[in-house]
This record gives sequence, structure tokens and C-alpha cells, in this order.
Amino acid sequence: MRPTPTKLFALLGIPFTRGMKRKILRSLNHPYGQQDKMECDWMLNEISGVSSILEIGSCFGHTLKAMAHVAQPHSLVRSIDLGFHPWPVEGIDTSAELELAINQLKDEGYNAEFLRASSRDSSAIAWASRNAPYDFVFIDGDHSAEGVRADWNNYGPMGRVVGFHDIASETVGALWKEIKSAYPENKEIINSDKGIGIVTRTRQTP
Ligand SMILES: C[S@@+](CC[C@H](N)C(=O)[O-])C[C@H]1O[C@@H](n2cnc3c(N)ncnc32)[C@H](O)[C@@H]1O
Repeated sequence: MRPTPTKLFALLGIPFTRGMKRKILRSLNHPYGQQDKMECDWMLNEISGVSSILEIGSCFGHTLKAMAHVAQPHSLVRSIDLGFHPWPVEGIDTSAELELAINQLKDEGYNAEFLRASSRDSSAIAWASRNAPYDFVFIDGDHSAEGVRADWNNYGPMGRVVGFHDIASETVGALWKEIKSAYPENKEIINSDKGIGIVTRTRQTP
């Protein structure tokens, strides 16, 4: 079978054209575009009934909306996102769609806000801390080893329960392994090359 132009460009390391990036982005822009359905549904079931949510890395806002919709009506919903998706579609703004998702949640009665920033900025940490603690913090932003660790260090303490996307990846997986051994109240699902882990911090220190 002949590879698609996108696969061919990726294999050869040729930078994608803007048209290709838009096409890739479209394929990511639907409710399970960046999630495995079974894993995501499992997480939604686990957090059902929460009253406050913080998501680090929301992209178009699909998981943000899905999480809000299993939370209590009028829940507090906060999101921090760069406003663009990194590789392979960097450079294309996604913040307008996230803003739409936030406005939809507001229309539905949620107390929803989005901060366009890097989660590593001290102003972003201060912004999120104003409403801490959250019933659930979902970390799905910077997937580099230092990025995900920084998010855990900065936002983990703000969550009673903290979720991680992509625990099947090398970078998030290494941190998840450490967390699992430090926090006995943990659960995970790995049904794909992504995976989701959830840890309850309430009865733990630090
Ligand atoms: C995998 S996507 C999130 C997908 C989303 N949770 C969903 O499934 O609907 C990752 C997002 O994290 C954001 N991101 C990456 N690094 C970040 C950082 N340092 N601070 C804030 N957001 C970041 C990107 O802008 C991107 O939108």
C-alpha cells in the first residue's frame, strides 16, 4: 500500500505544508480525536460527580467538555493551554475553538475559564491556585519528561485526584511509575499506545 503524503513527509523528515497541518489538525478535532475512546470513557466514569476540574492542555476543549458533562451542574472548570498544538501541527492557532468550548460551557451554566499560557509560567500557576484545590486535575499538556514533571509538581498539589494522559509513552510513563510506587491509591487503563493513570492524593503527603 502506498503511504499517504503525510506519512511520506513524516518518514522523510520533510516539513509539513500548512495545508497538511490543517488536515492533521482536523483529524484531531473531534471528541475522541486525541484520546482512546475506552480509556477516556473509563476516566469519565472515574471522575463522575466531581465539582471542580483543572485541565492542563485542552487543545480544542474536547476532554474539557466531556469532563464537565460528567461533573456536577455548574461546576468550576479551568483550562490552561498554549493556544496551539505542538508538532506536527505547530504554528496553527487552536485557541478560538477552545474559547468556543468555554463559551458553550458557560452557556450551559458552568463556571468555566481558559488561560492562554504556558503551564510553566508563574502567572499561570498563580491563576490556577486561586480556585484550588480541585476535585480533579487532568495533566495532558507538555508531554516532555521535564514538562510533565513540572505540571505534576506545580498542579498536582492542587488536585485531590490527578489524572495523566499518555502513561504508555516513555516520558509520562517514567513519571507515572514513580507516582505509582509513592501513592498506593492509583488506577490505570492502557488500551492503546496512550493510556490514562489516576492517582488520589488526598490521604498522601506531600
Ligand atoms: C494532547 S493536546 C490536549 C488534548 C485534550 N486534552 C483533549 O484530549 O481534548 C495537548 C495540548 O497541550 C498544550 N500544551 C503543550 N505544552 C503546554 C504547556 N507548557 N502549557 C500549556 N499547554 C500546553 C498544547 O497547546 C495542546 O493543545
